[in-house]
Amino acid sequence: MKNYFEIENLQVNYQTYEGEKNILDIEHLVLEKGKTFGLVGESGSGKSVLAQTILGILSRPPGVIKKGKIFFNGEDLLSKSEKAMRKIRGKQISMIFQDPMSTLNPVFTVGTQITKVIQQNQGVNKKEAIKRVIEKIELVKISDAQGIMHAYPHELSGGQRQRIIIAIALSCDAELLIADEPTRNLDVTIQAGILKLIAKLQKELNVSVLFIANNLGLVSATCDHLAMLHKGKIIEVGTTKDVLRNPQHSYTKAFIKAIPKEKTNE
Ligand SMILES: Nc1ncnc2c1ncn2[C@@H]1O[C@H](COP(=O)(O)OP(=O)(O)O)[C@@H](O)[C@H]1O
Ligand SMILES: [Mg+2]
Repeated sequence: MKNYFEIENLQVNYQTYEGEKNILDIEHLVLEKGKTFGLVGESGSGKSVLAQTILGILSRPPGVIKKGKIFFNGEDLLSKSEKAMRKIRGKQISMIFQDPMSTLNPVFTVGTQITKVIQQNQGVNKKEAIKRVIEKIELVKISDAQGIMHAYPHELSGGQRQRIIIAIALSCDAELLIADEPTRNLDVTIQAGILKLIAKLQKELNVSVLFIANNLGLVSATCDHLAMLHKGKIIEVGTTKDVLRNPQHSYTKAFIKAIPKEKTNE
């Protein structure tokens, strides 16, 4: 019996002019259902490549999946056809991307965009879709959901835009949410609100979350378990508490040192 989500011997390369370069080499990683799992690593360590590989949206080429299995609800995602993956994306696994402006289309109102996603994925009519959109916008705690529906992405603040992205990710009732550095482009004060929102939604909706970040402070505030990714390899994994108290790897220790003080004292 496989775990809810389990990666086995995953190797992903990139084709370059100098030949294939190994980007990910993950022997084993397990995510528990209904928990928030943090994946921490510096820029370039392979976090987004992993997220793309899970979702089946890695550009191939230049990406090459050399070997491995990614079990989700007992089935290997890597052996699925593109057609089958299209059904899983959005409906069962959803992603919050790191840059809201690249996800939102500047030409359409926020309402039009979310309505379209819901109509496509859930096969409901426009009226029902709009009703669900308003529910989702209220869920991510933006006041004036009706007004926001008619706004264009550039008319919203950074924090509001990221909340809309979360609403879109949630709009199809996915059970696993991959958040790829969801607060990367936001001010620290707004970051905290988004983190709280993700934590709250995780509990309320009982989704599982893979929370990707480039610093341990963000992850330690939100995640039950975490893994440190370094040059494509998992070098440390455990409960957040254990890793913070008793890091095994010098690389992890450096990340702990970089956490602002008030966050380690909680
Ligand atoms: N399109 C690409 N072509 C070649 N190499 C790439 C491409 N995208 C990413 N990489 C390589 O993959 C590595 C991991 O990238 P990425 O997963 O985006 O890092 P992270 O999200 O952790 O910052 C990078 O160091 C880079 O060398
Ligand atoms: Mg990235």
